[in-house]
Amino acid sequence: MSYQIAIDGPAGAGKSTIARRVAREKNFIYVDTGAMYRAMAYYLLKEKVDPSDEEEISEKCTGAHITIRYQDGEQVVLLNGENVNPVLRTEEVGNMASVTSKNKKVRERLTQLQKELAEKNSVVMDGRDIGTCVLPQADVKVYLTASAAVRAKRRFDELTAKGESCDIQKIEADIVKRDEQDMTREIAPLKQAEDAVLVDSSDMSIDEVVEKILSLTEA
Ligand code: C5P
Repeated sequence: MSYQIAIDGPAGAGKSTIARRVAREKNFIYVDTGAMYRAMAYYLLKEKVDPSDEEEISEKCTGAHITIRYQDGEQVVLLNGENVNPVLRTEEVGNMASVTSKNKKVRERLTQLQKELAEKNSVVMDGRDIGTCVLPQADVKVYLTASAAVRAKRRFDELTAKGESCDIQKIEADIVKRDEQDMTREIAPLKQAEDAVLVDSSDMSIDEVVEKILSLTEA
């Protein structure tokens, strides 16, 4: 039987850093579902799809074949056979993903892939709807959050460290907008599952959050 750890939460809460660490500790695979939605958004951007046209998104998304492979423990997202990891982390792709992930067809395709991965492997999977929709029977569910100001500051530090110039107010406004879109959509909105443990990382270190989640797997 595979073991499932579901981590959901808003943008920039540190889900991927934490999930990757927990997966390494447990020797499970880490499934970054946001990267799948980003790969789909990247494809739709390339196809010049109008983000407000649901019908066009439903039609065009069928041309995107998204699969996953693991290389040195890292998830590689293949879009129609091509490794798209290097282009997924931009603000443009993230903002498009937040819009196109509302689409029913897009969600059906990616949810199926996520379920298949969790059936075959023990996983730490992060996203927005993992505990509520994708893996409702997960062994451990965590809702990881932090204040918008803290999340914006972390993102700002990350970008500045990479030498990119950015505006912290704009980052915070984008985060708030993306959360709003994710929480209010009709299908699979971001919300804490009833049986999820709430972890607010605003005043916690990465190590503390990892320890907390590991302790839940031993309960
Ligand atoms: O987590 P990340 O910022 O990479 O996700 C990008 C976008 O993909 C989110 O803003 C959200 O709209 C969407 N997403 C989703 N369901 C998931 C994971 C991500 O709708 N399970």
